[in-house]
Amino acid sequence: MSKLREIIMENFEKCCSISELNPILKLEDLDETLEGKDLEFINEIRVKCLGKSGDITSILKCLGNIPKDKRPEIGKLVNDVKRELEDMIDEKITAIKEREKEDKLKNEIIDISLPGVRNFTGHRHPLSSALNDAKDIFLSLGYKIEEGPEIELDYYNFEALNIPITHPARGQSDTFYIEDDVVLRTHTSPVQVRTMEMTKPPIKIIAPGKTFRTDDLDATHSPAFHQIEGLVIDKGVTFSDLKGTLELMAKRMFGENVKTKFRPHHFPFTEPSAEMDISCFVCNGKGCSVCKSSGWIELLGCGMVHPKVLENCGIDPDIYSGFAFGMGIDRMVMMKYGIDHVKHLFESDMRFLDQF
Ligand code: PHE
Repeated sequence: MSKLREIIMENFEKCCSISELNPILKLEDLDETLEGKDLEFINEIRVKCLGKSGDITSILKCLGNIPKDKRPEIGKLVNDVKRELEDMIDEKITAIKEREKEDKLKNEIIDISLPGVRNFTGHRHPLSSALNDAKDIFLSLGYKIEEGPEIELDYYNFEALNIPITHPARGQSDTFYIEDDVVLRTHTSPVQVRTMEMTKPPIKIIAPGKTFRTDDLDATHSPAFHQIEGLVIDKGVTFSDLKGTLELMAKRMFGENVKTKFRPHHFPFTEPSAEMDISCFVCNGKGCSVCKSSGWIELLGCGMVHPKVLENCGIDPDIYSGFAFGMGIDRMVMMKYGIDHVKHLFESDMRFLDQF
């Protein structure tokens, strides 16, 4: 420093005011001046010395006035000082930041004995899980998922499905009528008709969704419930295909040991028609309260699509055949989890939902 001071004093006084030289001449003092100061103060000094119109910058601008032979030496010295100043200021700033961090940590008292705040993780409603399980099974078998409107034309809900006007399901007792020819769909079967109208065979779909009937609410009935419809149409589809598919579905859904049983039934839109029972997945067929001691649980309705329905949808029954099934989801979920009232599935009570 002293050498610098000497040379600068010797050559510089001619072109720069003493005040401009201050930071260089007092570099050691500056170190002391900055000691223990806050960031704001240090930044002020930085601007004063190194800023665009700061002292060092002005000195560098005056270098042209110094005799040529001295210029490289003095230029180097001034630059050295500039670097030294920069380093010193950076060092101070880092030290201050470190100190602030330490102070903050010291003042931040963390009581590690306090219980943590629990994050609630959302999860699926048991009905959605059951629907998703069923969807997964059929998607893996190459089925597509179709949807249809919940507010449906009488034509799709009844007429096209060969449900004559005299059928009891057409009466006010089962169906919510919105207008004379508009209903809340009473089953997911209208999606069969809509799909067959829109798509040429081969068809392989399932249609999950909400369905509505004018049932009074009791432990096992609700005016809104859920079904999954299935429909397969192709050349040469037989009742064995129907049985094989539904047996596989039952085993995947309820376990490999589940047995299936088909009972003859009647649906206007399938011929022949059947209901499929599964051996009770709670007692394995021994008899319990869920299966009402019978060992069997009624799972779904099914059958071969009625030729009249195929015709109504523009599919030639002499060339194509197919099967369909419709399965209620709510009762199945209730049995699976031992839920004693269907209202729990709709009330969104967290105390109930948290259990799944
Ligand atoms: N739609 C019928 C019901 O709601 C079930 C079913 C669907 C039966 C398809 C046969 C074929 O009960």
